[in-house]
Amino acid sequence: MLKKILFPLILLIVGVLIGTFFFDESESTVMPSPNNLYRSSGDSVSSLKKEKVFSGAILEVKNGDLIMDAVRKSAPGDLIRVYPGVYKETVYIDKDDISFQGVIKEGEWPVLDGSKELNDAFLYSGNGIQIENFKIINYKGNGIMGQAGNNFILRNNWIIDAGVYGIFPQFGKNGLIEHNILSGIEDAAIYVGMCDHIDVLHNEVYGNVAGIEIENSRHCLVENNLAYDNTGGILAFVTPGLPIKTTFDVIIRNNFISKNNHENFGAPGSIVAGIPPGTGILVMAADDVIIENNIISGNDNAGIIITDFANGGAAASNDPDSEPNPDRVMILDNFMIDNGNNPVGELKALMMTQLSTTGPDILAIGGGEGSSIRDKERYRTWGLGSFGSPHISSTSDTKTFLLDQPAEARPISKKDLGEMTYFGICSGCHAFDIRLIGVPTNLIQMIYKDNPQGIVDYINNPKNLREDYPEMPPQDYLSEEAKIAVAEYILSLKK
Ligand code: HEC
Repeated sequence: MLKKILFPLILLIVGVLIGTFFFDESESTVMPSPNNLYRSSGDSVSSLKKEKVFSGAILEVKNGDLIMDAVRKSAPGDLIRVYPGVYKETVYIDKDDISFQGVIKEGEWPVLDGSKELNDAFLYSGNGIQIENFKIINYKGNGIMGQAGNNFILRNNWIIDAGVYGIFPQFGKNGLIEHNILSGIEDAAIYVGMCDHIDVLHNEVYGNVAGIEIENSRHCLVENNLAYDNTGGILAFVTPGLPIKTTFDVIIRNNFISKNNHENFGAPGSIVAGIPPGTGILVMAADDVIIENNIISGNDNAGIIITDFANGGAAASNDPDSEPNPDRVMILDNFMIDNGNNPVGELKALMMTQLSTTGPDILAIGGGEGSSIRDKERYRTWGLGSFGSPHISSTSDTKTFLLDQPAEARPISKKDLGEMTYFGICSGCHAFDIRLIGVPTNLIQMIYKDNPQGIVDYINNPKNLREDYPEMPPQDYLSEEAKIAVAEYILSLKK
């Protein structure tokens, strides 16, 4: 009797084993499962981390194809899977809910290579965009740039020597940037600009001018990142003169911020060109920034610098709507050693007045009120006389700044769209009154006075008009609204 039951059972088990052996050829190609697409990286359940049932089509891109062809065919909800190979293109996405997933096989990645000719690898304006598993090299502008897209996930990308910004969501809400590696970026490797509700987690940034930058952004968590060998490791600040005027509610927690002593190779005139080499964390004019549980070591200028516009080199822009002081900065427990071995510039001069040649762990200079520090005696500090005691001892109640529900698409005015398109794309080659790669914008204003449609026609199908300029690449990928908006914006621009 027992035999009768056991025998078929054994047959079944053997059958299943053979089946797995021969047919579960799973390679390393993982079929997109909800888990794979929306893997959770914490115990909190935000809209971005919730399991989502995948219902769209899967479009495959193989070496020799164009990713852009798949984007043209795609509809919201689709997944574009890109196989190993070298793709020399810019991927523009103005649709919603498109996911890009690189397929990594035996260590071979899909590579986007800009050949030092193309400006951007990925440029999206849609909502719900996800980009993961790409290697991005040799672009001149941005690795991944978002313009006003909400609810994004940018993950597991490897961005090397890709221009001015590595990962740059601009004007986006509810976004997750995690598990990326970035190096050799001329400005900020991860640049969160004019955004709200962003988590920046588990990234490695090294050999950049700025490692991670939270600029004119609110409700941002920067956690578990490794920032080393940059000019400045992690920065939270306000740049005056931008449409969004504030940075506040930023938690910088559980990061390793080490030996950020790289020489500054930022473009002269850019705000990061002013970061002194050897800066671990810089807070300029940002409010309610909490710095907790970081290891901050070996940064030769200072571990943490808290400053205002006047001392941070941003006073000149004179924007009356930007409040210049860092208020209510809170420093909780941090592990800080070996900082300040070689202070530079003004800090060096300042230290000399104290008959010291060593920079501090923490420097506060300039205006600001309501700031506090826990266990101040642990550190070598300068300028923290007005700092009180924090009213909390940890931020453990805040798990994430991501939203429970997806953020609604932002209504964007025509002027906003024109402005973003101009600064996001055209200004890479056009400046107001000087020659860059393209002609000065004020010359365009003269040629196309009262004729925005003329600009649209030209950018759809540019001709080489001048011997001493290269041909402009067509901008026909832009939406019709963006084209007319940017044309009108250009004609209205004053300086
Ligand atoms: C990669 C560089 C580059 C980018 C990006 C770029 N341009 Fe240009 N643009 C040029 C160059 C180069 C010229 C000069 C071409 C010539 O004279 O042959 C030019 C010329 C022009 C002209 C003058 C045409 C004329 O009749 O003289 C207009 C208008 C223009 N660009 C608009 C734009 C707009 C709008 C954008 C953004 C959507 C843009 N460009 C983005 C490089 C660029």
